[in-house]
Amino acid sequence: MRVLLLGSGGREHALAWKMSNSSLLEELFIAPGNAGTRQVGKNVNLNINDFGAVKNFVLENDINLVVVGPEEPLVLGIVDFFEADGDLKKVGIVGPTKYAAQMEGSKDFAKEFMKRHNIPTAKYETFTKDNLEQGYAFIDKLKPPYVLKADGLAAGKGVLILDSKEEAKKELRSMLMDAKFGDASSKVVIEEFLKGVELSCFVITDGDSYKILPEAKDYKRIGEGDKGLNTGGMGAVSPVPFANPTFLDKVENQVIIPTVKGLKQDNIPYKGFIFFGLINVKNEPFVIEYNCRMGDPETEVVMPRLKSDLLDLFEGVVTNTLSERDVQFDERSAATVMMVSGGYPEAYEKGKQIYGLGNVTDSIVFHAGTASDGPVVTSAGGRVLAVTSYGKNLDSALDRSYNSIEKIQFDKAYFRRDIGHDVL
Ligand code: AMP
Ligand code: GLY
Repeated sequence: MRVLLLGSGGREHALAWKMSNSSLLEELFIAPGNAGTRQVGKNVNLNINDFGAVKNFVLENDINLVVVGPEEPLVLGIVDFFEADGDLKKVGIVGPTKYAAQMEGSKDFAKEFMKRHNIPTAKYETFTKDNLEQGYAFIDKLKPPYVLKADGLAAGKGVLILDSKEEAKKELRSMLMDAKFGDASSKVVIEEFLKGVELSCFVITDGDSYKILPEAKDYKRIGEGDKGLNTGGMGAVSPVPFANPTFLDKVENQVIIPTVKGLKQDNIPYKGFIFFGLINVKNEPFVIEYNCRMGDPETEVVMPRLKSDLLDLFEGVVTNTLSERDVQFDERSAATVMMVSGGYPEAYEKGKQIYGLGNVTDSIVFHAGTASDGPVVTSAGGRVLAVTSYGKNLDSALDRSYNSIEKIQFDKAYFRRDIGHDVL
């Protein structure tokens, strides 16, 4: 297969690394990619939201499979663009349509879907500027803390968790009346706060059948002990110890099956990944959010634990034959620790030269935000490297990643030293 992967983060390096090990691969291109994806394929300088440019590249390079890493092109309708274009009819594309991508792109859409299909999730109501007063009344009925969610994509910043009623009302007003998150907050979902531990589950589906991938737990806060600002993710582990077979059975029966069946019932064809952001409340799974893509940094532990051929699964997705494919997991644990730029997720400097990558022997270093000029690799983002290791258990996987990190240096590098500690 001749494959084009869209994206440039650690998730895409992990997907590219996995596909590069497939016997079905003829040539792999990554747009725009980073210094890590360059080691496993050819980087192409394309704006992935410019569908015309993607089309030209696909036709000029005889691409037969396009894999979409991030949500933005999906939410903007890249799959619909491919399906509507006569020249692209024969090109397979992995990802849901614009309508289906609302599972991630609209909190209200996702919540209505869950309500309709009896999928466990926090109780909620949705408000616009036309019923602000009812929003205040709903807040009055809830117990603190209050969870306010901008309906649309808001670069991961659209969820507010507030302790006081006054603050919650003020923020609701600012989201609806002052467009605090732009258009994304023209609708706001207010929901009940759920107390529990979060985890991420993933399936790949062709719209009829599905295959479950290894679960993972990510660490979103910048500081140790889950303190400080939210980030794109500071590390991840897989498997998740509390996700025992009983719990994972509940996830499959109460969440995954009703979701895949519900999409079909609602006539929402869905091909690609579904990411279930879950919370374990007294051993019962609740859905916090859906994403229409893989997680980052979860992919950096999920792909290493997937033994099966990823391109074989993708072929199953685009030809509607996923049920005939086989998924096997690596029994080993995997852990990844993110090295980030000092200051992230606030202001940080880029362009720092990275030393020591060649000295790492016990880990796979997935590049998240890097660039290269000849052999010199430099930082090019907030999250810079995801250092992934295998181990016979999580402890040993984490030890390996932390040992490898000691061999890598760049100016003002920061990482959390407590990844996985809460679940060990
Ligand atoms: P979301 O973008 O919906 O995933 O929300 C971002 C984060 O807010 C989640 O990862 C949770 O940590 C937290 N969160 C969202 N909804 C709730 C809820 N109903 N109860 C508790 N925490 C929540
Ligand atoms: N790690 C969470 C996400 O990818 O949204």
